[in-house]
Amino acid sequence: MRISVKPNTCQGHARCYALAPEIFQLDDAGYILPDDIEVPAGQEALAQRGVRSCPERALFVADQPEVG
Ligand code: F3S
Repeated sequence: MRISVKPNTCQGHARCYALAPEIFQLDDAGYILPDDIEVPAGQEALAQRGVRSCPERALFVADQPEVG
């Protein structure tokens, strides 16, 4: 599972980080790092919650698992 960060959208709310600091890493100013995030196996549900927690919708799932 990969998460992408929408450019220039993060406002530093840090809700993603509060939920899962090992997945969502912030820079020194408190903004999400712009690189895609490769979610470790087993952390998908937590990552999904982090994506939904962002009030700016700065995070989105870049690859959904294939269905069927
Ligand atoms: Fe930024 Fe949203 Fe996280 S505003 S710090 S990506 S909760």
